[in-house]
Amino acid sequence: MPHFLDFASAGAPALRAILDAAHARKAARAGWPRGRTDSDAPLAGHVLAMIFEKPSTRTRYSFDMAMRQLGGSTIVSQAGEMQLGRGETVADTARVLSRMVDAIMLRSNRHQTLDALASNADVPVINGLTDISHPVQVLADIMTFEESTGRKVEGSCWAYLGDGNNMANSLIEAASVLHFDLRLGVPHGYDPDQAVMATAGCRGGSIDLVRSAASAVEGAEVVVTDTWVSMGQAEAKDKMSAMAPFQVNAGLMARVPDALFLHCLPAHRGEEVTDDVIDGPQSRVWDEAENRLHVQKAILLWCLGAL
Ligand code: CP
Ligand code: NVA
Repeated sequence: MPHFLDFASAGAPALRAILDAAHARKAARAGWPRGRTDSDAPLAGHVLAMIFEKPSTRTRYSFDMAMRQLGGSTIVSQAGEMQLGRGETVADTARVLSRMVDAIMLRSNRHQTLDALASNADVPVINGLTDISHPVQVLADIMTFEESTGRKVEGSCWAYLGDGNNMANSLIEAASVLHFDLRLGVPHGYDPDQAVMATAGCRGGSIDLVRSAASAVEGAEVVVTDTWVSMGQAEAKDKMSAMAPFQVNAGLMARVPDALFLHCLPAHRGEEVTDDVIDGPQSRVWDEAENRLHVQKAILLWCLGAL
């Protein structure tokens, strides 16, 4: 079953095919008026179920618009409004939805819920963010790097600053599967997932954990950050103080004047990034947000055997 759960299980050839399709579909629509379906409407009649255990703006709208542009449609549910919220199991939900819809996207509090859904579904399941990973976002980041630089991601040099969270984990996995270099500037006590680090270390790319923002960005072509407090985490004063030296501000970006700045959004301006950076000339965050749509389309086509 072609689930899209993480970079490692998708594998480099599929990831490259997805990225190329995302670039091609974006280019094919350039200059089109809004409100048009892609001319081939390859997913006409197909329905994507989307289940959210956490809030979302970009993931929800990009998958919904992706299905519409591909000729299909979506059913969007908050998990708490489904029988899931009253104790029906994830496995039984997977079995039932598999009899009705063509694919399922899940945003879950716990990664185990995604695994349970995927192992019991007879239709493709897509990871729309868990506590451990956010691969559909990192693929949009990679697309943004490639369109901004005109170069493939392989062999490039990235820096990630801040919390060792789901975004950090997916960047680590992406670097190891697609073979690019990644330096993570993360304070002590907030490291990325140990298992993700350990398995990535056995693949490719060079992945380093450093304890200073300046050394993290040295030589970087892309600087990425994310919120210091992810959905479901409690805000803690000591965490905010530990993160403060890893803020992406004008002083830090001046060390790498040719680097791009990316942030998956939503941003907490004045915390992990300052206004002058996110609104400045190095920022590509709005292209990155738009590219969620193009990447989502390519992932859906891959999952549904239409790439
Ligand atoms: N970046 C991202 O996944 O945004 P949403 O939480 O709005 O979906
Ligand atoms: N790390 C963030 C990403 C939001 C898209 C979170 O999980 O809340």
